[in-house]
Amino acid sequence: MRIKMAPSMVASDLTHVAAVVAELEGAGVDRLHVDVADGHFVPNIMMGPYLAAAIVKCAAVPVGAHLMVTDPVRYAPAFAKAGCDTIFFHAEAVDDLLGALGAIKELGVAVGIALKPGTPAESIRAAVGHADCLMAMTVEPGFSGQGFMESGCAKIPALRQMFGSDIDIYVDGGIGPETVGVAVRYGANVMVAASAVFDAEVPPGEALKRLREAALTAAAGRSD
Ligand code: DX5
Ligand code: ZN
Repeated sequence: MRIKMAPSMVASDLTHVAAVVAELEGAGVDRLHVDVADGHFVPNIMMGPYLAAAIVKCAAVPVGAHLMVTDPVRYAPAFAKAGCDTIFFHAEAVDDLLGALGAIKELGVAVGIALKPGTPAESIRAAVGHADCLMAMTVEPGFSGQGFMESGCAKIPALRQMFGSDIDIYVDGGIGPETVGVAVRYGANVMVAASAVFDAEVPPGEALKRLREAALTAAAGRSD
């Protein structure tokens, strides 16, 4: 599977968002990740549809929204309207997994299911054949800059077995040059990273390249 890089804009310099996007695109970024939190599903408030629309406007690459919100079906339309091509909602946030998936899919976007570190793969088996992509969280959602939890990755082989080898499986939380290899070896192929890209000692474009190199090195050693 092709390794893709999807930096999370939440930790970027939002006073210069167009320049940040241009720098990442110059470094070969695959897509951008917008973290959305409602202060209810998680104890933080992060980004919103207006900021997502501004990022989409600056970007040539696709932009995805990661909704860490209690009512994703209610708020997804604003992010589709903002131009996001993919919308992730959390399995833990909804009672009716397939209903939520179908409602968001009707907006004309790709739909992804995100799982907190402790949520088992089995809990989303009903979505096989329906979800467009998946996300294994390797921190408790809500804040960037937390430590990587390998336990969040351990479900990825089971997800691959259920959903197939072609589906994009994102990993999100604590991903940096030292941890990305672990995620790749479990079978993740889309790497979300905030602090490792935007709080590094080198500029974001360079940090992104280093992270991709580390991921590719791990992928080269992987058997699939
Ligand atoms: C966590 C968010 C992540 C996070 C990533 O709630 O979904 O995207 O901001 O931040 P880092 O890469 O710093 O863990
Ligand atoms: Zn995220």
